[in-house]
Amino acid sequence: MAYLQPDKEGKVYLPAIREAKVKGEKLVCLTAYDYPTARIVDEAGVDMILVGDSMGNVVHGYGNTIPVSLEEILSACIAVKRGTERAMVIADMPFGSFHVNEDESVRNALRLMKYGGAEAVKIEGGRQRVDLVKRLVNEEIPVVAHIGLTPQSVYKMGGYRVQGRTAEQAKRLIEDAKLLEEAGAFAIVLELVPREVAGMITNELTISTIGIGAGLDCDIQVLVLHDLVGMTFGRQPRFVRQYANLRQVMTEAIQSWSKDVKSGAYPNDNESYGLTDGAKKEMAAK
Ligand code: KIV
Repeated sequence: MAYLQPDKEGKVYLPAIREAKVKGEKLVCLTAYDYPTARIVDEAGVDMILVGDSMGNVVHGYGNTIPVSLEEILSACIAVKRGTERAMVIADMPFGSFHVNEDESVRNALRLMKYGGAEAVKIEGGRQRVDLVKRLVNEEIPVVAHIGLTPQSVYKMGGYRVQGRTAEQAKRLIEDAKLLEEAGAFAIVLELVPREVAGMITNELTISTIGIGAGLDCDIQVLVLHDLVGMTFGRQPRFVRQYANLRQVMTEAIQSWSKDVKSGAYPNDNESYGLTDGAKKEMAAK
């Protein structure tokens, strides 16, 4: 078989994730929802790109992730895949896309892989997802599990709060993580769980933990790109460290351009097009 399009050197697939865990090397994961951000994130050397349903909050302005559709994730995934050469592309399965039955869930995951170019899918939920994870893995679909705060359960949980703070809840989280590992997930997102619990899960599992608001011990850290670069509105959770203020940079650029337009400083001759000399003479002769 001829491999017409060889992968970029160091392309991240499952074996690279496993190897990093064995060696104790930390990896990084960020969200992206479009071509330019995916390209920037990939070229910056990030190992995994999550086409997260957080797009509902940060891109679509829905307020939570419940309304995000499979088509929205699919469309974003196609763009992200085009902008990505090295990072592993993971598609979030949005609310409603894996709840009806296993066949429909498999069909939806396959769409994300075949048409979206996803190399893995992510599914929220603990022990109640074990059978589904087994089925997806059996159909050659790499799965990232997601426990702790699962934003698709926002109405059931009644808000976004740290999960697993009591000993009983912590034990349940650890059990869930083990069950999902046994089911075949190759990594597990731990969102908003106490750092001690994340540390115990990371030590007890052979698969990688991907932490967000879960402390230092996780194998991989993930953040929402828009939070990291300051393109969000309102108060940020305490685990967000903002490394840039793109909202301010963009506002200043837009205001400078508006000022230049209004004062006549934009566009200048170099930023517009003129007639040829011949055309100028001809027009003047008329
Ligand atoms: O949708 C998302 O961005 C996520 C991360 C916060 C893990 O699920």
